[in-house]
Amino acid sequence: MEVVIAPAEELARLAADAIENLVRSKPDAVLGLATGSSPLKVYDELARRHTESGLSFAGARAFMLDEYVGLPAEHPERYRNVIEKEIASRVDFAPGAVQGPDGLADDLPAACAAYEAAIADAGGVDLQILGIGTDGHIAFNEPGSSLASRTRIKTLTQQTREDNARFFEDDIDRVPHHCLTQGLATIMSARHLVLLATGKGKAEAVHQLTEGAVSALWPATIMQLHPHATVLVDDAAASRLQLAGYYRQTFESKPDWQGL
Ligand code: F6R
Repeated sequence: MEVVIAPAEELARLAADAIENLVRSKPDAVLGLATGSSPLKVYDELARRHTESGLSFAGARAFMLDEYVGLPAEHPERYRNVIEKEIASRVDFAPGAVQGPDGLADDLPAACAAYEAAIADAGGVDLQILGIGTDGHIAFNEPGSSLASRTRIKTLTQQTREDNARFFEDDIDRVPHHCLTQGLATIMSARHLVLLATGKGKAEAVHQLTEGAVSALWPATIMQLHPHATVLVDDAAASRLQLAGYYRQTFESKPDWQGL
């Protein structure tokens, strides 16, 4: 696992560089997209590169991590709509190239199985963007999630609903209780994981993710078992890291050609 500690703007550039290198070398790449605040600067950077330097996603596909169950199709916080607004509509994905789990399906387990099949049919995810919850979730795999889980319905914790109330006019009662989420094993099948975390509120989760014992109590710790996982954090999110000095030193002395 590589940990990079840098200001948020630089983290976004690094993640965008990794995505750009991938898409330029493999135009039909499969990307994994996260919602929430953490990837927004990356999406801004990708949109800028699309407009200013012709970075194209025309042959690429993308799969979202998760979706709320039951939010109406036109709801602005429905993750499908958020992804459309934050990235899909700002670049040139082909129609239908961005997919997410269907939180409005009549048969939710069948929708989850269909989603797993769609990811597999696409050849799996090449690069997965991730954020982390203050309780250590990735996607919506809350504490206690099976480390072998696949896409399924989950109940959001009170903590996550409180954290996400900011997107629902600070009213926790408007935050759905249920979601569909890629499982931890689904995420682990992606070929490169790139997690972004900023702010002091993420410091404990980032410490557990990189330096804690692998445990369902901190679901993101499963990433320690991934052969190519990159954790991009700012100073505040890195403030609990025991090995911060080593991570900084390693990144400073990293050869330019290596990339993430
Ligand atoms: C969103 C997702 C979540 C968020 C996490 C952090 O698709 O999968 O795991 O990444 O809740 O959210 P932010 O980035 O808003 O702090």
